[in-house]
Amino acid sequence: MCGIIGSTGKKASLIDLIEGLGRLEYRGYDSAGIAVISDLSKLERLRAVDGTASLALLDELSKGINGVYSAGIGHTRWATHGRVTTENAHPHFDCTGNIAIVHNGIVENFRELKEELANAGHVFTSQTDTEVIAHLLENYLKEGANLTSAVSLAMTQLRGAMAIVAIDVNDPQTIVACKRMAPLIVGSGNEVNFVASDVPAILGKADTFYQVGDNQVVVVSPEEISLYDLSGNQLELSKIDVEWDLDAAVRGGFHDFMSKEIFEQSNSVRDTLLGRMNPDGEIILDEMRLKIDDLQEINKIFIVGCGTSYHAGMVAKYAIEHWTRLPVELDISSEFRYRDPVVDSQTLVIGVSQSGETLDTMAAMHEASLLGAKTLVVSNVMGSSMARAADAVLYTRAGPEIGVAATKTHTSQIVALLLLALYLAQVRHNLQLSEVGEIFSELQLLPPKIDQILETNDKIASVAQSMVDVKRFYFIGRQIGYPVALEGALKLKEISYLPAEGYPAGELKHGPIAMIDADAVVFGIATRTRLWEKTISNIEEVKVRGAKVVMIVNSGDDASSSLGDLAFEVPQTHPLLAGVLDVIPLQLFAYHLSIALGNDVDRPRNLAKTVTVE
Ligand code: F6R
Repeated sequence: MCGIIGSTGKKASLIDLIEGLGRLEYRGYDSAGIAVISDLSKLERLRAVDGTASLALLDELSKGINGVYSAGIGHTRWATHGRVTTENAHPHFDCTGNIAIVHNGIVENFRELKEELANAGHVFTSQTDTEVIAHLLENYLKEGANLTSAVSLAMTQLRGAMAIVAIDVNDPQTIVACKRMAPLIVGSGNEVNFVASDVPAILGKADTFYQVGDNQVVVVSPEEISLYDLSGNQLELSKIDVEWDLDAAVRGGFHDFMSKEIFEQSNSVRDTLLGRMNPDGEIILDEMRLKIDDLQEINKIFIVGCGTSYHAGMVAKYAIEHWTRLPVELDISSEFRYRDPVVDSQTLVIGVSQSGETLDTMAAMHEASLLGAKTLVVSNVMGSSMARAADAVLYTRAGPEIGVAATKTHTSQIVALLLLALYLAQVRHNLQLSEVGEIFSELQLLPPKIDQILETNDKIASVAQSMVDVKRFYFIGRQIGYPVALEGALKLKEISYLPAEGYPAGELKHGPIAMIDADAVVFGIATRTRLWEKTISNIEEVKVRGAKVVMIVNSGDDASSSLGDLAFEVPQTHPLLAGVLDVIPLQLFAYHLSIALGNDVDRPRNLAKTVTVE
């Protein structure tokens, strides 16, 4: 969690640091801080603790310091160790006040290290795990190391997933950074070089971007960028292809990122499908590094993911099983690795992660690899840690998603997983090419259908506004409608903070129906998929118990609409693709209700976009 940035060079500026932090706020916003070296000799630090207003406060405070500096670092925090206070806000200093560091992740062995350092006379000013890093660097520098080797030595002592960035007044133009299972990239621009947690933070400021691998140390000066392993051996820099433009990373005229991203879904789905079928009518997945023979040998699939990504995997399970006849097990990432899963070299483990950095999923994939499985990641972030570690990767091409609540990456994940299902069915000869082609054509029809749903935005907004006083929501569906229901409930929970539950509609009568009364609003996912009739009967069951029912139905399906008090329409599609469309009215509903309640949809309380802690 947390966003980090650093810059050095003649044109390094506070504006870039603070703007960069603004674009990293989705990673956490409990507090924000910067430290800069001015006049090549003075380390100045500013920290602001005001929740989502921290950056504005930091910006205000920064007017009081010299805007020209040689090297500077910044941080936006999502607290893990130590409460949200100024003392715990980053950057953190060592005892001498010469070294400043920012950190994203967790130092798992910080208690032991802190005790040792304190016994040796180091004075701690915060309750964070981070501060031990500054004091470790202090020790190594005292022993004669330079900042680069001090960072390498410290990293060998630190346990856990993290990225750190350090500066030292005695080397006033250099930034040294290192990462292990946490995101970090480097960028070079016109007389300024950067490190940052991700590309959007420095888009438009840097023009060339480079990867940093795990346990690699990057040394950034105004003139050059050098990469080393922890033993000090120099490594070659490898570039990242960045196709996003700055416009894609800012709100583009929308009130907030979440609505922008909901409205981008026809494009993100279209982009995810681009170039995936060759002129011979075969699905091609060009990032596929697994051999066809390997895929033909697979006899079982696991899908692992968290939250919304897990729900995308759940939607895809139905299609994968139906088209490939391979059994698919689904697991929450944080459960998978601890449950002794039955996995071997004939198992394909698919990790679904928008960010490609979620620690739980990364650890699950690592475990799968250790057990000999073949691994494939579906991710939205090129060169993300998981994308680099897996045997194969399939990118969702949704563009940067800044809103904390995942929307466009969810629908793109489903589409990518459906493509993968078709690819598997093709190479394993479960489907004829003509059948693959027919389904692919249906996939290509999704973008205009998404636009049709988005045209009903005003209606959904007014229904949401009429429900500001509702205290409990339920979402029910069967088969693909079940993960859609779970996702509808998750979206509502995370941005409205209201109780919302998703259930398989057939399961209601086994308990949850006891909660249904006239105060409940129930969303029934009743598009014309295989279990439509049964779903309708389950919806009737809640209706007769007094609940207000909102139906999600296919356009023009009056028989279904008339069963509810209200209905949101979505165009019909192939039943196994319905998860892409049926969820969109629920995203819009959650969005509008949350706005009507006065919430900050892009930065919901207690959440962070990328969860890099276990
Ligand atoms: C919900 C949401 C989270 C993420 C989850 C996994 O809107 O965004 O539930 O889906 O934290 O994140 P990734 O996909 O980055 O692994």
